[in-house]
Amino acid sequence: QDCLPSGYVVRPLARTDNQVRSNTSFLKTLEVLTTVGTISDQAYQQRFQYLKEHSDKYYIIVIEDMNVPATLAGSATSSTPNLVTPGRGKIVAAGTILVERKFIHELGLVGHIEDIAVSADQQGKKLGLRIIETLKAIGQQVGCYKVILDCSEKNVPFYEKCGFERKGVEMGWYV
Ligand code: ACO
Repeated sequence: QDCLPSGYVVRPLARTDNQVRSNTSFLKTLEVLTTVGTISDQAYQQRFQYLKEHSDKYYIIVIEDMNVPATLAGSATSSTPNLVTPGRGKIVAAGTILVERKFIHELGLVGHIEDIAVSADQQGKKLGLRIIETLKAIGQQVGCYKVILDCSEKNVPFYEKCGFERKGVEMGWYV
């Protein structure tokens, strides 16, 4: 945890991380990337369960700021299903590495980094760097021969700082 601010921890995504604490949650953190939409607790739980059942393929990590005292979201009452656990912090950053299993390179593994997000008010504290370092370490540990990602031109300097270099061209087809 050496380059994280004091009280910040890196950990895997948890089943309860859709709960809103101090006005933030895993899903809110993702909103710096794009539209997240309305995701019910049940839908989150179903997706979390799927990811858990494929935990050799999907690794989602978050950074939690433990300095922030847990509060109930808005005017939530004790009957609110999204009750927070007192003493828990708030999610301030997130990232994913997806491990692809190939035939080439003698059944090689490729890590794909996706959905890197640092809350707007937490950017510039090296949290993004820490997320990427952790995902690279996971990729290396599971045996990936390379770790790749797609990003916009404006994020190229950030990924260069994280040890990545330009390779190929990104293309997309949107349905
Ligand atoms: N231009 C130039 N340098 C940058 C930029 C940038 N846009 N962003 C960060 N850096 C540099 C920092 O100055 C720092 O350099 P230093 O070590 O010399 O001081 C280094 O990169 C590390 O920066 P961090 O503080 O770790 O960056 P941060 O925590 O703000 O995270 C991120 C960067 C993830 C791009 C964040 O700004 C963010 O969430 N942006 C919105 C969402 C987004 O674009 N996510 C990436 C999508 S691509 C994908 O998911 C694969």
